[in-house]
Amino acid sequence: MKLIRTLALLALITVSAVWAQSSYVTAASFAGAPAASDAWWKHAVVYEIYPRSFQDSNGDGIGDLNGITDRLDYLQSLGVNAIWLSPIYPSPQVDFGYDISDYEAIDPQYGTLADFDRLLVEAKKRNIGIIMDMVMNHTSDKHPWFIESQSSRNNPKRDWYIWRDGKGPGVPPNNWQSIFGHSAWKYDPTTKQWYYHKFYAEQPDLNWRNPEVQKAMFDAVRFWLDRGVAGFRLDAIPTLFEDPQLRDEKEVGGTNAYGDAVLADNYTDNLPEVHDVMRQLRKVVASYPGDRVLIGETYLPNIQELDKWYGGTRHDELNLPMDMQIGFTNKLDAALFRQRIQDVETQIHGNQPLIVFDNHDNPRSWDRYGDGAHDDLIARIIAAMLYTIRGSAMMYYGQEIGMVTTPPTRVEDVKDPIGKIGWPKEKGRDGERTPMQWDDSKNAGFSTADVTWLPVAPNYKTVNVKVETPEPDSLLNWYKKLIEMRATNPALRDGPLTMLDPTNTNVLSYVRKGPAGSPSIVVALNFTAQPQTVSLNLKGTGVSGANVKTLMTSAPSLQSTTTLTHIELPPFASWIASVQ
Ligand code: NOJ
Repeated sequence: MKLIRTLALLALITVSAVWAQSSYVTAASFAGAPAASDAWWKHAVVYEIYPRSFQDSNGDGIGDLNGITDRLDYLQSLGVNAIWLSPIYPSPQVDFGYDISDYEAIDPQYGTLADFDRLLVEAKKRNIGIIMDMVMNHTSDKHPWFIESQSSRNNPKRDWYIWRDGKGPGVPPNNWQSIFGHSAWKYDPTTKQWYYHKFYAEQPDLNWRNPEVQKAMFDAVRFWLDRGVAGFRLDAIPTLFEDPQLRDEKEVGGTNAYGDAVLADNYTDNLPEVHDVMRQLRKVVASYPGDRVLIGETYLPNIQELDKWYGGTRHDELNLPMDMQIGFTNKLDAALFRQRIQDVETQIHGNQPLIVFDNHDNPRSWDRYGDGAHDDLIARIIAAMLYTIRGSAMMYYGQEIGMVTTPPTRVEDVKDPIGKIGWPKEKGRDGERTPMQWDDSKNAGFSTADVTWLPVAPNYKTVNVKVETPEPDSLLNWYKKLIEMRATNPALRDGPLTMLDPTNTNVLSYVRKGPAGSPSIVVALNFTAQPQTVSLNLKGTGVSGANVKTLMTSAPSLQSTTTLTHIELPPFASWIASVQ
């Protein structure tokens, strides 16, 4: 026991020392990459790992930290600069880690603090940073803070959570609803009051109007910064504050998958008070060396709201609030993508976009955008957009090999509680959390257990890392080439983006202007199942040159394209070329 502690301490000292020397320099992992003169996260590929599902190292059917460490070489070969780990803290696992019962430890299911420190050190050797998921909106109802808070009305921690009287016997304080269905209030018979929970009842919301809450949470943030993490992904961060008057939300018509009336959500989401907390958090993180990053889970209604999360022209809030406007349009619509990409190019005051198409809460982009007949080509369009528009990029494990959403077919198999509450309309999020498909052996190489926590998707024999690695035209190699090209090509790294052929509703085309001496890059993506011919005019873009050389394409017929005036794009073709 003592030996383990000493080893953990040594690992911690090593990690902190490494951090003091340098930040994660990303582009330098590729030969010929331009020198990284600005913060590493500005051009990063952030790879989300759902730890339960990535790699099981101890045969219990659940992924763990040592499993992730074992797979770091793969992530390095893909070109990943940072890993975002969905929560690995001790948790009753009602919401699979998003219900935290201790912010400064590791859940034994995933390993130990010593395993975590080893992961940090091994990742750092490969130029990969570790980003923790920080859940500040709520804790688990089994967290000692909540247990105390619940114990009596005059407990010192009572005001750490949101307790209110009901409107009458059995009637909650107002009509607010949980995102996961039904009333957001739960009655506590011991103290005869209700507590507020935006998510599951086992996830009581913290009261951010109490300064002690902020102090405790910032202490947890420092704990991980001291250990050497590269930053945080802030969970559900727009929901930190609620209306102090507890006004009822307006009903906007219709019902959701749980059968509840749809509400406006004006009093529990994106309240302005949250920005002050973000500015203070940014100061804490910025006081550490090494360009640590703050990423936000920011589902927002429009680009103006997204801009506020950067701190607008002050640039003093999050470094990378996620842009959910582009990747979650859920419809291959060239005009809509053009508009959203233009928005993020022009309306966030020079801040860096973070583009996301996939995560553990939504069906995979393969299924949201696929038409059933051209899914692989469409997946290549998504990847091409992700890596050729300006910004940092986020991807989700398995996206690079074309993993599909595999929802449960029987309610009794559902693991994610919302799938039970909302069945059959809402089947929960198990479908996008199935184990990573490494090879065609038992459980796709994920685990040696007889039963894994979620079943492996049936297509693992053909869709896996081992099969796709040597295959030059695989989706995996499409991703690898795109990531490498973006890291090494100055136009793709930093060049301004101008839309071409802007009224075309079938083909999305744009140019990224290279700096002096470096070629500019044009991209054309056919969003339709019909062949499309385009002529791209560079006038007014600041880019000159009429000849092009194809760099990457999903259509062999486009390899020989040499001119911008006549490009014949087969159905759902992606084409990326340099302007000569
Ligand atoms: C957002 C997370 O991504 C999701 O998985 C979780 O259920 C909720 N926040 C609540 O923490």
